[in-house]
Amino acid sequence: LKRREFLAGAAAMAVTPAFAALPSPKTFPKDFLWGASTSAYQIEGALDVDGRGPDIWDTYTKQGRITDGTSAARACEHYTRYPEDVALMKAAHFNAYRFSIAWPRIVPAGTGAINAKGLDFYDRLVDEILKAGIKPMACLYHWDLPQPLQDKGGWQGREVVGPFADYARIITKRLGDRVKDWMMLNEPNVVSIFGYGLTDQAPGLNLGEMGVLKALHHQNLAQGAALRAIRAEHADLRLGTVTNIQPCRPDTDSDADRAAAIRWDAVWNRVTVDGLLRGQIPDVLAEKMAPIVQAGDLDNIKFPIDLLGINYYSRCTMKYDPDHMFQVWWGDPKADRYTFMGWPVQPDGLYDLLMEFKNLYGNPATFVAENGAAYDDVVSPDGQVHDVERTQFLQEHIAQVGRALGDGANIKGYLAWSLLDNFEWSFGLSKRFGIIRVDYDTQKRTPKDSYKWYADFIKQARGL
Ligand code: NOJ
Repeated sequence: LKRREFLAGAAAMAVTPAFAALPSPKTFPKDFLWGASTSAYQIEGALDVDGRGPDIWDTYTKQGRITDGTSAARACEHYTRYPEDVALMKAAHFNAYRFSIAWPRIVPAGTGAINAKGLDFYDRLVDEILKAGIKPMACLYHWDLPQPLQDKGGWQGREVVGPFADYARIITKRLGDRVKDWMMLNEPNVVSIFGYGLTDQAPGLNLGEMGVLKALHHQNLAQGAALRAIRAEHADLRLGTVTNIQPCRPDTDSDADRAAAIRWDAVWNRVTVDGLLRGQIPDVLAEKMAPIVQAGDLDNIKFPIDLLGINYYSRCTMKYDPDHMFQVWWGDPKADRYTFMGWPVQPDGLYDLLMEFKNLYGNPATFVAENGAAYDDVVSPDGQVHDVERTQFLQEHIAQVGRALGDGANIKGYLAWSLLDNFEWSFGLSKRFGIIRVDYDTQKRTPKDSYKWYADFIKQARGL
């Protein structure tokens, strides 16, 4: 099956989304990983303590670009409240938890001095996670680039590659005896497109198509360098990365829309995935990327990873639009439901992409590193959060994971986004993705109905 043929069938699939019934929890492998994901900037707070350096999201916030006017200064105060949060994971029977390390806590200026207090925090956190019987899965870069590195161009240049590999070496040296699963990047496509093209994310620059492609390529290079740096010192660690994949389909059957969907698929999905797994650049971008790619780059980007994390939220439906980058823009998803982000609910897209990794990439070991939804939750008079839609969202997506597993896809786990309501980047604190509600005034945690359903499902799946 070739990518183009896959897309050619895609428009028809829009009309008949494939529903999958939730399988019995007992049908999942006993060692399947169940849990949730978070990221440092979104939950920790404590941005000015213990020697943390400034990062690009601090700057973006100071520029007044968070739409609801909030900031991550306190967020979930996870920096001090982590024991309570880990206890909630344990009570939900998690056996895995993905979090991120804040680069500006470890190397505050991006290069140079190491901050002992930053290392100490992750020591404490990891010990707490392990004490709860949960597998810690650490991500190195979930968007908090130290500001001094952005001042040198950030992901626009190669200057970041060496410092990222150094930071990877420092943190795995400290935690590699206890943390065995390491993810390099989180969603380099989103960082590149929204951070350096569309301005909706830090550093909030509009550098056009070439700015986006440079950010993608240099993250690929940094990832390859970090993977090699860690592998050289630790043979026993499981190494991977986290990508955001959206199966792309054309808005209509027109040739222009089909070609637009292929272009978007190349930028959104393939530069990252084909770079890492195949050492290739997608054909439709070869000419544009030629000036950025130096001899040897593709060999340095390709790496035999152990585990690929996949973040899935929805498909994307793309149309030809000459007024936007790559002459493509979002079309009408034609979905019957949307989340509070305005994103279409399309669970069968998760099945499609998991099967794509099986059929087109040699069935690498994958796990769902994020999947979830923001809804306009309310606390009911009974003090509970009856988040029916989120519960259904999780059920429908886990059902598609079960379906793909049944069809032979090599999936090792499912992690919900997110454990806690948190700082949703440029939307601030107003979009709630948590299975646990956070009251930002009191910092009270209230497990939502989705948490209770999920905890029970995991308990049965793990045979507890
Ligand atoms: C993916 C990102 O990794 C995460 O940080 C974000 O909060 C979720 N998407 C929801 O937008």
